Amino acid sequence: MVDLRVNLGGLCLDNPIIPASGTFGFGYEFADLYDINILGSISLKGTTKEPRLGNPLPRIAECREGMINSVGLQNPGVEKVIEEEIPKLRKCFNKKAIANVGGFSLDEYVYNCEKLGVVDEIGIVEVNISCPNVHAGGMSFGTDAKNAAEVTKRVKAVTNKPVFIKLSPNVTDIVEIAKACEDAGADGLTLINTLMGMKIDLKSRKPVVKNIKGGFSGPAIFPVAVRMIYDVYEAVKIPIMGVGGVMTAEDVIEMMLAGATAVQVGAANLVEPMACKNIIKELPALCEKYKIEKLRDIIGGAH
Ligand code: FUM
Repeated sequence: MVDLRVNLGGLCLDNPIIPASGTFGFGYEFADLYDINILGSISLKGTTKEPRLGNPLPRIAECREGMINSVGLQNPGVEKVIEEEIPKLRKCFNKKAIANVGGFSLDEYVYNCEKLGVVDEIGIVEVNISCPNVHAGGMSFGTDAKNAAEVTKRVKAVTNKPVFIKLSPNVTDIVEIAKACEDAGADGLTLINTLMGMKIDLKSRKPVVKNIKGGFSGPAIFPVAVRMIYDVYEAVKIPIMGVGGVMTAEDVIEMMLAGATAVQVGAANLVEPMACKNIIKELPALCEKYKIEKLRDIIGGAH
């Protein structure tokens, strides 16, 4: 019997599969489709202090091998997330979830982390300093090592939960940013967020997405994610949650060999809502095929 368990920053997961933030709502929406307790954990919809309607439509563009989104952190705001969304999740999910925290200023990141960091159902706080779809905050913190370190230090001071910083691939040197976060006290890293992209409609000769540009995700970015995880794993000691274009159980194993302790599945959920369930079902046979007895033994195995 294959052992799929992994230890993610002190949180013991039954398996490394985690739906990525923004592709799985607050989790309970999927509970009618399958028993979501089979998941390792769930990264919840990105949460800001104030409720947000997000960017104007259209904000999705289908591309070859992926999609562009410019959602703009649509969410009901941190108070409602705590008072309404997480209690709904609690009714159908008996494991710890991951709070994904957005922000437009240092103080907002701190505020949101402080609030979500004391919620019982939350096992990890994932700080998104890499959203490409907002004009202030978001990615501007994640593309500068000093700013990334400052956010890390400030949020670490207000929560006892493990803090994972979600990094942007839209930088020259992701290793520099990763090390800055580790030095500032991060308990782990999530990488990568989406790559900045755009799509132009030939008929109207205009960008498809109202916000002009957006974050590109899907299978096309998988090799980029693997490369960045590989590079960062060489440079830091803290665990990595890998994310970016994961579609299959094979992708999960590849990402773990690069250095991921757990693997988030994002765009695949939007193509096939059962994607995470299918991957979890396929993992044991695939491990047997590759003679893996304990999945955690392969983390960083490609180095
Ligand atoms: O626009 C969005 O809500 C996406 C956020 C992200 O990619 O971090």
